[in-house]
Amino acid sequence: MESHLEKQNGDVLQKSFKEMISTLPKKSCWGLPEDQYQYQSFWFSPPFLQGALSAQQQFQAQPTDIILCSFPRTGTAWLKSLTFATITRTSYNDSTTPLLSKMPHDVVPYMEFDHAQISINRHLGIPLLATHLPYSFLPRSIIDSGCKLIYICRDPKDTFVSLYHFIARHCNSRNTQPIQLDEAFELFYEGISSYGPYWDHVLGYWKASLERPDKLMFLKYEDLVEDTVLYLKKTAEFMGYPFSSEEQQQGVPENIVKMCSFDNLSGLEVNKTGRHREGKGNMETENNIFFRKGKVGDWKNYLTTEMAQRLDQRTLQQLSSSGLSL
Ligand code: A3P
Repeated sequence: MESHLEKQNGDVLQKSFKEMISTLPKKSCWGLPEDQYQYQSFWFSPPFLQGALSAQQQFQAQPTDIILCSFPRTGTAWLKSLTFATITRTSYNDSTTPLLSKMPHDVVPYMEFDHAQISINRHLGIPLLATHLPYSFLPRSIIDSGCKLIYICRDPKDTFVSLYHFIARHCNSRNTQPIQLDEAFELFYEGISSYGPYWDHVLGYWKASLERPDKLMFLKYEDLVEDTVLYLKKTAEFMGYPFSSEEQQQGVPENIVKMCSFDNLSGLEVNKTGRHREGKGNMETENNIFFRKGKVGDWKNYLTTEMAQRLDQRTLQQLSSSGLSL
């Protein structure tokens, strides 16, 4: 329970964050109801920046934590469901798993939103936590505790297309006008989107994964699509929950992959009709907004050849000499 004094201190801190944020460079963009603010070269929606600052001050990581890190729309919900199902496989089976009644974002909390201030309420039996924060923004305790991190990234072209549709749907559900795709494209290209620039986000984690491969696993959405079972096994091993040979013979990894597949999860009632962050104003969304197509290369249906070439060129230039290709 939070004491009166803790609450008062928390309120003072939140007020000082709000004041600081109000002095930052801002931009009205993507048709979003709120301006985006630039802080230490990344762009944020105010509630998430406020949560990030709180988390930096107050979040206490445990050495056993496993933090799922990603830029929005790169496969976060999928990674959450796969890792959650893997870690809880001895507690639940296919018919009792919470993934049948809760959407993936509701089984793995979001650090800078759900736990920025209330880390004491964490369910430590399930050590998973997620964040969209850039590597350089992670609370010091995450690095110092030596806990593990898993980062997922995706082809920037598919990431952009997925993000555009997500925001357009978000705007539609609030009866605000979404911006045109080509306008959004220019913003993404310039790095102006929530948690962007995309390439800086990816590079921060990529470099850290080279320095600390035992602590940071770097995944690509496309690899996960190509061979989900293989990457699930690698992820389970990395997390410290490897599949035994008996489990492998019984097809446990395959069952988890099937349960967490796009077709299965997107077809569940909770993900078709449920709502995420109900009662939280602008943060509330329909669950089905998180499940669109789940395909590699859908950008071909939305980007002109010229747009695709420009984005590829940008990616090559941004990632040059990093050893990473996307
Ligand atoms: P598309 O918009 O290209 O379909 P995030 O979870 O980070 O917001 O990422 C969203 C993207 O992951 C969306 O991509 C969504 O459809 C896709 N996705 C969601 N669940 C998935 C699953 N179980 N398997 C594969 N892709 C999934």
